[in-house]
Amino acid sequence: MPPPRLHFAHLPTPIEPLPRLSQYLQGPRLLVKRDDQTGLAFGGNKTRKLEFLVADALARDATLLITGGAAQSNHCRQTAAAAARFGLACTLVLAGDPPAQRDGNLLLDTLLGARLVWTGSRDRDMVMRQVEDEARAQGQRPYLIPYGGSNQVGALGYVFAMQELMKQKVHPDWIVLASSSGGTQAGLMVGARLLGFQGRILGISIEKPEVTLRQDIIADLATRTARHLGEDLTFTPKDVLVNDHYLGQGYGIMGAAEEKAIRLFARMEGLLLDPVYTGRAAAGLLDLIRQGFFSPDETVLFWHTGGTPALFAHRYARW
Ligand SMILES: Cc1ncc(COP(=O)(O)O)c(C=O)c1O
Repeated sequence: MPPPRLHFAHLPTPIEPLPRLSQYLQGPRLLVKRDDQTGLAFGGNKTRKLEFLVADALARDATLLITGGAAQSNHCRQTAAAAARFGLACTLVLAGDPPAQRDGNLLLDTLLGARLVWTGSRDRDMVMRQVEDEARAQGQRPYLIPYGGSNQVGALGYVFAMQELMKQKVHPDWIVLASSSGGTQAGLMVGARLLGFQGRILGISIEKPEVTLRQDIIADLATRTARHLGEDLTFTPKDVLVNDHYLGQGYGIMGAAEEKAIRLFARMEGLLLDPVYTGRAAAGLLDLIRQGFFSPDETVLFWHTGGTPALFAHRYARW
């Protein structure tokens, strides 16, 4: 039986050429897959994962979604929106202390009706479990979604995204994307193996060392996702392509490279990236093009995973 799925994302997301940027860089042909346009409260990659996660929650008769992330988490914002859409309560466990200003994703979390719990200096996992226990004690039926929606249920969203891409018949030689909790890349890899996708999938790591993402996270998650679909596939770290040269000053800290990439995409193509994920992945992509990593006759599809509301939390940057 196919896994339960709801249909609320705006799919298929378009694929657009980036002709001015391609010409300026004199590199490969560049395309962008617009998963920033998945439609749910400003969209992003988590919407595809949530089609499966919320379906699973409803199948288990849940009344409350609990998840966690950083203050500017896109995953939390999309989870809050999905909860509202299906009449579920939502509690977001956010790392650290509340900032002085509620803007970007955090403003939207509040608008979407989520309850916010700040961890302060406490361990996030511990706080999540505590929130879950309290909810049960109050008679709610909580459903816990891991960080980034990256488990074998959420990653299914990207197995099906690969099917969508294959139907769009653009046949890129490379897919380049931001990789953080690994579910997007793992799902794409499972879809690629199942459907015979011929290109390569390169994750630009946002905050983790390459070896951690490849060995401890993505290979294992891809194997679990395939098994969850009833497919007996095994993935090893050798199957996973990750580049961790662009971690900059760490998670969520926008440096000169991200700022430059965001400005270039905006001014060459009118395309908005985000300061944490796609800005960093694009900075990596630009550097790899300059190094001649891709040959000029190749086609590179940059998978835009969303996150643009976080731009508004960076309004003091000198754009
Ligand atoms: C905009 C954006 N891009 C990419 C990612 C990374 O996706 P994943 O966690 O599936 O690796 C995230 C995750 O939070 C995100 O919000």
